[in-house]
Amino acid sequence: MAGTGRIWWKDGVVYQIYPASYQDSNADGLGDIPGIISKIDYIKDLGIDIVWLSPMYESPQHDMGYDVSDYESVYPPYGTVADIEALIEACHSRGMRLILDLVVNHTSDEHAWFKESRSSKTNPKRDWYIWRPAKYAEDGTKMPPNNWRSFFSGSVWEWDEETQEYYLHLFAKQQPDLNWENPVTRRAIYNSAMEFWLSKGVDGFRIDTVNMYSKGTAFPDAPIVDEGIFEQPASGLFCNGPRMHEFLREMNQQVLSKYDTMTVGELPSTPDPAHVLRYVGANDRQLDMVFQFDLVDLGTGKPHKYEYEGYKLSDLKEVVSRWQTFIAGTDGWTTAFCENHDQGRSVSRYASDAPEWRERSAKMLAMMMCAMTGTLFIYQGQEIGMINAPKDWPIEDYKDIESINYYNSVAERTNRDPKALDRVMKGIQVLGRDHPRLPMQWDDSPFAGFTSSKAGAWMRTHDSYKDINVASQVKDPKSVLSFWKQMLKIRKEYKDVFIHGEFQGLDMENEQTFVFSKKYGAKKALIVLNFTADEQGFKMPVEDGKLDFLVGNIQDADGTKARLQGYEGRIYFVN
Ligand code: GLC
Ligand code: CA
Repeated sequence: MAGTGRIWWKDGVVYQIYPASYQDSNADGLGDIPGIISKIDYIKDLGIDIVWLSPMYESPQHDMGYDVSDYESVYPPYGTVADIEALIEACHSRGMRLILDLVVNHTSDEHAWFKESRSSKTNPKRDWYIWRPAKYAEDGTKMPPNNWRSFFSGSVWEWDEETQEYYLHLFAKQQPDLNWENPVTRRAIYNSAMEFWLSKGVDGFRIDTVNMYSKGTAFPDAPIVDEGIFEQPASGLFCNGPRMHEFLREMNQQVLSKYDTMTVGELPSTPDPAHVLRYVGANDRQLDMVFQFDLVDLGTGKPHKYEYEGYKLSDLKEVVSRWQTFIAGTDGWTTAFCENHDQGRSVSRYASDAPEWRERSAKMLAMMMCAMTGTLFIYQGQEIGMINAPKDWPIEDYKDIESINYYNSVAERTNRDPKALDRVMKGIQVLGRDHPRLPMQWDDSPFAGFTSSKAGAWMRTHDSYKDINVASQVKDPKSVLSFWKQMLKIRKEYKDVFIHGEFQGLDMENEQTFVFSKKYGAKKALIVLNFTADEQGFKMPVEDGKLDFLVGNIQDADGTKARLQGYEGRIYFVN
């Protein structure tokens, strides 16, 4: 159903909900589906068209539900299948759609399929996962089949005592990878994880780690980039394997083409625009769009993400420009996002979360995002300008497996060297996956109105909830929330230019301001953003035509001042 025409999932704005942290309805400290339903009018009122729900399936929760033990049931603390049906109805009756998270690169090790698979070498489901014999070093030491490092530290191979083989897990050892080479496995995935929900009226999927299903069968060693440790980063070897496009075409033919769906695939480690285009070309039915990660990966360290290195504004401009323009002249489609459940908060990463700049810079980022071509994704709390956890929170307040495992691996490797651990903490303070998972800040009552449990929320509530919360922003026309609503209206009113327009970056070397134009036919908008706390000069490109001020993030400004204030943003039409 893709094509160059206007389709609901192109013009629609998506709102991502992380069920654990949105709203607790029964005072157990954990968010749940009825809690989400109770907020559905708030979501509609924001200007949302499509809700994306992060995994709510049955799961032992080693990776917050990205370890699914049964695709056809709901994690009981979140609710029931009937609750999801009620959520579908709540969305549909308000003219919104609902997409789920499809996590089918791996299952939980508690999934019935894996329990059978590991039960014996001759079990019919043995081949549904990836099993390999040990290698042996010259001195007879047992070694895993290769040196690949898992995303959550340590080897991707886990030894199974019972059947004396290793199984592959690109993520946690409780997340064994499914064997997509086996057609029977693929069919089971389509039935259980996809058709089950599509037949209930779900409108599509955000597809987890979509480019890792095909990883070849040879498993060569990765080159050594992290000296002094056996396991090496290997995503270049297991992403975008030889049968990737074939599998996605099959998934379309056999399942998706029967429904009016949208798909957005998570596409890490794919830096080449030509390669990304192969996934999103409309005629070659694979994926409708993908998340490419260059923007949210800015400053991440090699050899490990949490060895944060920082970045320059010109880097940000360059990556935004690349992924805004790569579909030009093609039938592909793109996405615009700067937050999700795996990323630090955008205000803290790209702008300023200092009290004096927080609101204005959140509004400036809203302007940048709402002016971008592609389907726009907003993550819960982004609309009120939620920020990263305070820097004085100790590691004990962080819960995520990725942060904890890396912290512990460095602690072990360096014999708890305070300098090394300090570096890791600095990285986690910027990039940690826990920041976006803190409870949604609804009001100024205890635990931010997220839960009425006396014991509090499952995750520490951000200290800022009295200053940053929905209740106060709903009634304040000058709030970040009111500004997002206004910007989403503007985006839709001028959708040609903002959703479908041609992006052009201007003055790309400038390290203080980000200026770009969006053009559609004879219509042209100019977006001017000051990414610093200082005043900046701004030369009106008058040769272009007359600038008519459309909107800005400073109260009562009319866009005529030659100088931009700190974190000021303006959008003009060029006439
Ligand atoms: C994706 C998810 C992330 C999860 C991983 C494994 O990257 O966004 O949260 O840990 O896949 O499923
Ligand atoms: Ca609950």
